[in-house]
Amino acid sequence: EKGGYKHFMLKEIYEQPRAVRDTILGRVGQESGRVFLDEMQIQPKEFAEFQNVRIVACGTSWHAALAGKFMIERLARIPVEVDYGSEFRYRDPIVNPNSLTVLISQSGETADTLAAQREAKSKGSRTLSICNVMGSMISREAAGTLLTHAGPEIGVASTKAFTAQLTALFILAMYLGQARGRQTPEQSQDLAQELLRIPAKLEHVLSADAHYEDLVKWLFKATDFLYLGRGIHYPIALEGALKLKEISYIHAEGYPAGEMKHGPNALIDESLPTVVLATADPEDEASVLRYEKTLSNIQEVKARGGKVVAVATEGMTDVTRSADHVIWVPPTRELLLPILEVVPLQLLAYHIAVRRGCDVDQPRNLAKSVTVE
Ligand code: F6R
Repeated sequence: EKGGYKHFMLKEIYEQPRAVRDTILGRVGQESGRVFLDEMQIQPKEFAEFQNVRIVACGTSWHAALAGKFMIERLARIPVEVDYGSEFRYRDPIVNPNSLTVLISQSGETADTLAAQREAKSKGSRTLSICNVMGSMISREAAGTLLTHAGPEIGVASTKAFTAQLTALFILAMYLGQARGRQTPEQSQDLAQELLRIPAKLEHVLSADAHYEDLVKWLFKATDFLYLGRGIHYPIALEGALKLKEISYIHAEGYPAGEMKHGPNALIDESLPTVVLATADPEDEASVLRYEKTLSNIQEVKARGGKVVAVATEGMTDVTRSADHVIWVPPTRELLLPILEVVPLQLLAYHIAVRRGCDVDQPRNLAKSVTVE
């Protein structure tokens, strides 16, 4: 049932090209770039008129939500707020009928997220869910669902459900951008084509011989890790840190790369590995600028004696001058890079946990779905 893989988690990491492909399937016109959402109670006219979007989720799904904020704000120019399911109700949130509330939940049964959905509905907001389980509670209570087609996930630490969520959020962002006239047909075509290339690029990331076993030889004994990313890559840094914590029980923190100098750099020494997301879209000036800032952050870590593992873009080789080890992913548009760059972080966590002898599929204290508040 593990299809020849040692663990379900590894099998599910390798299923990501398929999970992403199936999530795109039938929703994005290859030639036109037009996006079609599944049948829902929310009308296209309403999508064009929402004044803001709020995304509520927990854990890994909350990291997807943070990345989704970048996608929706960039492509549709609607302000997006992101909340934890478990926090939402406790500050009497300001919700109005002009806001769309998006719930992201892989299981569709997370009690905190469901409670937030009910709160938003009681205040008059329309709710849309991004779920991996058809007929789940959250999807049944939503006015519409964008189903992720990751398929059942057995490993407790989410992998393919996360990349499918990022894919669904990108599709939603494109849809909102089109509904609101924020994307030219050329822009839509370009984004659609780039999105359609992601599954093959994921295959490439998974088939690359990235020498994880050698890499983890000098990493697996560390007691703490830092993960850094800037912009949309910061949520991915958080996700990388969470994967490591969950399955290897190593303390790890995700930080916005630029925040390092405001305190956390006091922690840096040779015993603290830092994993840096240093990818970019070489054709996008803003993305390259962001990448160059991240390179300076790597140099700061190195100057303090830290060890750096970087995830970087093929063809952009400056990073090899400062990082101790580089894992390469192919270039794509800035908003799509997260789908590619999270994979090395999943594999890194996996190989470290295996090397430490941990039960990667069933980490201690964790359950697949959390149905209490
Ligand atoms: C971590 C993980 C959890 C879940 C969280 C929410 O790998 O899977 O953080 O993301 O418990 O679960 P869902 O997405 O089912 O609402």
